[in-house]
Amino acid sequence: MKIFLDTANVEDISFYGDFIDGVTTNPTIMSKYAHSEHTSLIRQICGLVSGHVSVEVISSDFNEMIKEGRQLASIDSKVCVKLPCTLDGLKVCKRLSIDGIATNLTLCFSPTQALMAAKCGATYVSPFIGRLDDAGHDGLALVEDISDIYNANEYETIILAASIRSINHVIQAAMIGVGAATVSPKILKQCLEHPLTDKGLEIFANDWKVGK
Ligand code: E4P
Repeated sequence: MKIFLDTANVEDISFYGDFIDGVTTNPTIMSKYAHSEHTSLIRQICGLVSGHVSVEVISSDFNEMIKEGRQLASIDSKVCVKLPCTLDGLKVCKRLSIDGIATNLTLCFSPTQALMAAKCGATYVSPFIGRLDDAGHDGLALVEDISDIYNANEYETIILAASIRSINHVIQAAMIGVGAATVSPKILKQCLEHPLTDKGLEIFANDWKVGK
């Protein structure tokens, strides 16, 4: 399973570089870190990772999204154009896929949106686990349904588990067998640590001193 870091913070991206395959952003994330010009920040992030950097279009109209998507893709070959799972977003996905531009269909909340994303040639589809859970639904059940649909139909679109709120979400997504998950720096840190490991190290270090 690929791990993407869900941030535009270059310090975090550099710090966790050994563990990540790429980066995902959205307009909320970009607005926090791109103070003046987005393009240079996108270039900088692309220089730090080996894989895709998802950058979302701002417009929601077909013609504007196509223009924006092509412009984003021209910044760096690692840019993956993030598009909403709307009728227009899916149409843009189809066009950009034909042009060989990587796409990430975001804000996916239903199996049929994921089905249509695959049919339109999306590189990734991003089901939002946490936001579905927040709304009283079962985000992981959606991921399982999409996985069944993609396996049954042999679609190549990669499921990118998104809106992850806990390490349990990461574990369950990996057990389902999704191709990728995107996590915040906070969740990635939790994936890399365990309090009993730290406690065990402390005990070993103390015992070593006492024994000497
Ligand atoms: C993914 O691509 C999104 O940027 C992100 O995972 C959304 O997470 P949130 O629901 O915590 O904002």
